Amino acid sequence: MRLSQILLLSSAVLILGVAPACSQSGVEPKTAGGASAAPVEFREGEQKFTAHCSRCHGVGGVGTNQGPTFLHKVYEPNHHGDVAFQRAAANGVKAHHWQFGDMPKIEAVKPEDVDDIVKYIRWLQKQAGIF
Ligand code: HEC
Repeated sequence: MRLSQILLLSSAVLILGVAPACSQSGVEPKTAGGASAAPVEFREGEQKFTAHCSRCHGVGGVGTNQGPTFLHKVYEPNHHGDVAFQRAAANGVKAHHWQFGDMPKIEAVKPEDVDDIVKYIRWLQKQAGIF
């Protein structure tokens, strides 16, 4: 069960990791909010975010029909500080801001992983001019 989840997640990461190869066929990779645009120091967070959060919060944090975008004022550091991200991953979230339903706790991530993920999300938010 656990192992199959890990396998699933790593294949998702693999597929995404392969995507930039498309640029060789003359198609420019997307930069704004695109998964491959993060500077090296945010790549670890990007990978963990993509593996554990993007299913609902979208690749590049743009949101899906399962969960909200993080490129929104409501998630900037003064409204949802880094602690809110730790709490969300550790305990889950009861739906309160949106109509997506509850967020389950994400057992696969440790607090260190969430630290990396938050750094990546803050970078995305800065790029998007959220703060
Ligand atoms: C199964 C879908 C799902 C996954 C996977 C998921 N989330 Fe969420 N998340 C949600 C939904 C839905 C909400 C919105 C709840 C609400 O209405 O405020 C949310 C809200 C949040 C919030 C806001 C919490 C608050 O205090 O308002 C944070 C922070 C968050 N998620 C972080 C994460 C992180 C980090 C990950 C990956 C480790 C993650 N989420 C993975 C569905 C998900």
